[in-house]
Amino acid sequence: MAAPSRPAVPPAASDEPALLRPEIAAMAGYVPGEQPQDEGWVKLNTNENPYPPSPAVADAVVAQLAGRAPAKYPDPLAGRFRRRAAEVLGVDPEWILCGNGSDDLLTILVRTFVGAGEAMRVPTPSYVLYRTLAAIQGAACEELPFAPDWSLPEGFAAPRTAAGLPVRLAVLPNPNSPSGTIVPRRDLESIADRFPGALVIDEAYGDFADADCLGLVRSHRRVIVTRSMSKSYALAGVRFGFAVARPEVVRELEKVKDSYNCDALSIAAATAAIADRDWLRGNRATILATRARLSVALERLGFAVEPSQANFVWCTHPRRPHRPLYEALKARRILVRWMQYPGWGDGLRITVGTDAEIDTFLNALGEILAST
Ligand SMILES: Cc1ncc(COP(=O)(O)O)c(C=O)c1O
Repeated sequence: MAAPSRPAVPPAASDEPALLRPEIAAMAGYVPGEQPQDEGWVKLNTNENPYPPSPAVADAVVAQLAGRAPAKYPDPLAGRFRRRAAEVLGVDPEWILCGNGSDDLLTILVRTFVGAGEAMRVPTPSYVLYRTLAAIQGAACEELPFAPDWSLPEGFAAPRTAAGLPVRLAVLPNPNSPSGTIVPRRDLESIADRFPGALVIDEAYGDFADADCLGLVRSHRRVIVTRSMSKSYALAGVRFGFAVARPEVVRELEKVKDSYNCDALSIAAATAAIADRDWLRGNRATILATRARLSVALERLGFAVEPSQANFVWCTHPRRPHRPLYEALKARRILVRWMQYPGWGDGLRITVGTDAEIDTFLNALGEILAST
């Protein structure tokens, strides 16, 4: 859905060549979650970490600003980050590619693997951006529905779409958004054994889960894992993410990325953040405890809540329409994400905030349910 405020492109005279590529003219742009810029919101809609990042981040950024970094181009491969992350992950630095948020890496991956007229495959409901990236590329995006228990559908490993197009790339978020659920590693291993294209496991929320799929990158040369620093490291405003892949794959991805896709300040911030393991452990434990409390409280209010391994929960109410609940919360300056998937249904995705934010949300939701 294009933002209504964008000026319309004037219609071309019949003999004028088209201004836009037809794929762009035909596609709906991705609509990011609401990001109000005024104060006073309880913001539980875009899965940001509710706590400030490691204090080491501010020190690292200030040191960069005070030095020569602002006047110089940054390291194109963010070597400092790669070396630090490699130690943490137990891989060599050549296995890591950095990006301007993991969205940047997803863009690079789609541009690298899928050509116009070919296809990528994603499960649905999942991260809506994947479909947009395929549309920009002029590629088809086959969306296969998750099974009711959020396992992957039969056919996720098939080499061709139902319409016969070759599937060059399959992407799935794990944990998934919006459900927060996880596909077990053994199931992904079985897909990786059979799928002939590139298999991207988007672990934007992986640090909140019980297990990850980094091991599959070592054992399967077509598997790539992407990670975000936005959620578990509280750096959504800084924009930094990374992919883990075989070095020969990373070298190909380097050809496609912008030369300086990560700036000096974000490299410094992300390097300091990933080095502070105590901060990550403490923050994760806090978020998981609040997540458990939130899930139980939502069930008490009559919602069905999916078992989440992320920093958000997905809930549906058997009797109450979801959109009015989202609107009533918004009227009280509490933002959650109402998500609707055509042909599938809708629900509310609620980010795990601070304990105080979650109390404010639960009290408001309880009042709304009781009064409407
Ligand atoms: C599944 C998934 N992948 C990737 C991203 C992008 O994260 P970022 O670009 O902030 O690293 C998001 C953001 O919400 C997400 O939900």
